[in-house]
Amino acid sequence: MSGSTFGKIFKITTFGESHGNSVGVVIDGCPAGIKISHDEIKKFLARRASNSKFATQRHEPDEFEILSGVLNNITLGTPICVLVKNKCFDSKKYDAIKNIFRPGHADYNYQKKFGNRDYRGGGRSSGRETVARVLAGYFAKKILSELKIKITAYTYAINKIFIKNIDCAPQENFLYMPDRTAFKKAREFLKSCPEDDSVGGIVECKIKNLKAGVGEPVFDKLDAEISKAIISIGAVKAIEFGSGFKSAFLFGSQNNDEYYFDAKKKKVLKHTNNSGGITGGISDGSEIIFRAAIKPTPSISKLQNTVNDKNQNVKIKISGHHDKIIVPRISVVIESMAAIVLVDQIFLSCCSQIKRIKHNYFGW
Ligand SMILES: Cc1cc2nc3c(=O)[nH]c(=O)nc-3n(C[C@H](O)[C@H](O)[C@H](O)COP(=O)(O)O)c2cc1C
Repeated sequence: MSGSTFGKIFKITTFGESHGNSVGVVIDGCPAGIKISHDEIKKFLARRASNSKFATQRHEPDEFEILSGVLNNITLGTPICVLVKNKCFDSKKYDAIKNIFRPGHADYNYQKKFGNRDYRGGGRSSGRETVARVLAGYFAKKILSELKIKITAYTYAINKIFIKNIDCAPQENFLYMPDRTAFKKAREFLKSCPEDDSVGGIVECKIKNLKAGVGEPVFDKLDAEISKAIISIGAVKAIEFGSGFKSAFLFGSQNNDEYYFDAKKKKVLKHTNNSGGITGGISDGSEIIFRAAIKPTPSISKLQNTVNDKNQNVKIKISGHHDKIIVPRISVVIESMAAIVLVDQIFLSCCSQIKRIKHNYFGW
């Protein structure tokens, strides 16, 4: 089925089910000459598999193998395939619920669409699929770092506890929250939540140093492409840019970002950034800022009502230890998807003017 490929020039295809043989990615369109490091990939992947006591019990080492497209740690410009074997999982506990549709999961929907599904660990709809996105994100971020573009995503809120002052690096704590006071509050809040339930939150992402002029109106606007990429991540339910939903409550005079010319920097700048760095689907050279809402983890051990494949009303209690919160694990997936979109959109924008095409052509 289609739907597993994303991008136009920098194109990724992910494959694999949660409890199948492997998950992985094929990246087509990655330029040659990018230097990569296995240790960096390991560290980047480890962010997705955070091992706090509120996170997943599937402690998978995520040992990856680069099958093609890289020689002596330098990309070749040919398709890159990276594979991660699934090793640490117990499919037996899914036998008992294989005919029951778990609330909040995609079991019922996959059954209706395909008439058949891998019921083990959520199959293709599992968060495990995002290992492949993070692998591709690593390569995309390497390209962006050559262009001095920096992407950072971190926990902005856990339930209703928001960060206020950024006073530490997100990696300083297991909730990936760059505000020490908010982190402590959130940690206590999580401890006080019922053991059999889960909570959600918000991830904020900032992109620095992206030049003005990136984005492909009208259907492939930069914000539209970022939105698609981010909403395609499991458990992400909403996205807003800049002042986002709050802009609906502002006057035009409050929401418009006024421009000025900075003579020292010889640059057009803005006094505010309510647009989140994108207008008309094209970057304006200011920081891109967006936030994504993450729903509470659907797997909970609380007794819930549901139906089985014979349309009988039944009860379900999901056994085993499940993440109370997946928000901190998703930040690296968001960072990765944003990087993949940016690389693709920058490549497309390189052809937006004849002078750029000539500059590039005569320059090689
Ligand atoms: C990185 C990541 C990890 C996830 N881990 C879990 C998990 O441990 N338990 C769970 O119930 N859902 C988890 N999910 C969420 C489900 O994959 C997702 O909610 C479900 O497939 C339904 O899709 P939807 O929420 O996008 O509609 C995770 C998602 C991501 C992106």
